[in-house]
Amino acid sequence: MPTLFEKTWIKCLELSNRAIRSATWTGLADDRGYVTDRAVEFYRELGRGGIGLIVTGYQFVMPNGRQLPYQKGNYEEGQVHGLARLAAAVHEEGGKVAVQLVHCGGRASKELMPEGWDVWAPSSIADPTTGTVPKEMTVAEITQLVEAYAAAAARSVKAGFDAVQLHGAHGYGINQFLSALTNKRGDRYGGDIKKRYRFLGEVLEAVRAAVGEDFPVLIKLNGHDYVEGGIVPEEALEFARRLADDGIDAIEVSGGTPAAGPKLGPSRPGILKESDEAYLADIAAFIRGRVKVPIITVGGIRSPKVIQEIFDNGKADYVALSRPFIREPHLLNRWKSGDSERAACISCRGCFETGYKGLGISCKAERERKEREEA
Ligand SMILES: Cc1cc2nc3c(=O)[nH]c(=O)nc-3n(C[C@H](O)[C@H](O)[C@H](O)COP(=O)(O)O)c2cc1C
Ligand code: SF4
Repeated sequence: MPTLFEKTWIKCLELSNRAIRSATWTGLADDRGYVTDRAVEFYRELGRGGIGLIVTGYQFVMPNGRQLPYQKGNYEEGQVHGLARLAAAVHEEGGKVAVQLVHCGGRASKELMPEGWDVWAPSSIADPTTGTVPKEMTVAEITQLVEAYAAAAARSVKAGFDAVQLHGAHGYGINQFLSALTNKRGDRYGGDIKKRYRFLGEVLEAVRAAVGEDFPVLIKLNGHDYVEGGIVPEEALEFARRLADDGIDAIEVSGGTPAAGPKLGPSRPGILKESDEAYLADIAAFIRGRVKVPIITVGGIRSPKVIQEIFDNGKADYVALSRPFIREPHLLNRWKSGDSERAACISCRGCFETGYKGLGISCKAERERKEREEA
């Protein structure tokens, strides 16, 4: 039976355990998306924590692909230097680090893009959370974006990262192409499952050509959008099958988009007991049972007992956690030392607050706990 603390491989990438830090925007890049000293130190700290694989926050591959302020970019050569410093910091501490690549599509922020750029999406449908009406991409723009993903992947290799992960979840660009709700195109990029998959297939093919056969290419994919008319598990399975045929190396099964509301969004609140945990593990299991690719489950995973049950029941090959590592970057080391108390994170989502202010994400609950202690 698989266990958390055992060595595994994704392609030739050796991982010291089955825990992954799920991609997490840290809010520490500068205005143009360049890595700052604080971002390097943030990742160095994570690198010390004993995590099997750290996935960076989503890095935008074109200037019009950014959603949040202080989000890292991976759209021009000048960014390689900072990205390389970040990867080196993790490596110096014994960790492994993958880059997550994104274009936020219709959810990109018009305010944050340089002048002259438009918000792009597969179809011109208003974003349900921002109300922004994007421009429907031309076929030439789709080709430009595919090339931008490949160039970003090549930069990630150059910068010394261990893997790349395509962000295909949470209502961003790739997810918008996959979902019949946001993709109403009448050309070869829209329509049935095969056509809606075409963009992602082209991205994967271009990224693979850019990084080579031996370099791990992962994806974070929604197993369920939890939105009327969006992706459901049976459809996600079809996408997973195609990805497997096209050579993806691991699939992280996530779920929800902001349009699904907080309770069914990717980062659900109120995960306070074991029975609340691992809220997407059954969907991961559904895909794992049918597709021969390592499957990662994410969403509310908080305790070693639940993790072992996931492995014992064959629901996933890896577990990914995001918020617990904001509160406890060294959580894995704590568990490895024999302290199997569940993660201290109370899933309140307060960590975004300092991120929006340009101070970097941080645990609000921990800050408040310390203040109470000092009072
Ligand atoms: C502050 C914050 C930033 C996030 N940024 C990203 C991101 O850049 N890419 C991504 O795929 N998911 C992102 N997520 C979602 C997490 O990776 C994860 O899927 C979700 O929070 C569920 O895992 P958890 O319950 O362990 O937090 C973010 C979540 C949080 C709380
Ligand atoms: S603020 Fe702290 S406790 Fe709340 S979700 Fe973020 S990391 Fe967890």
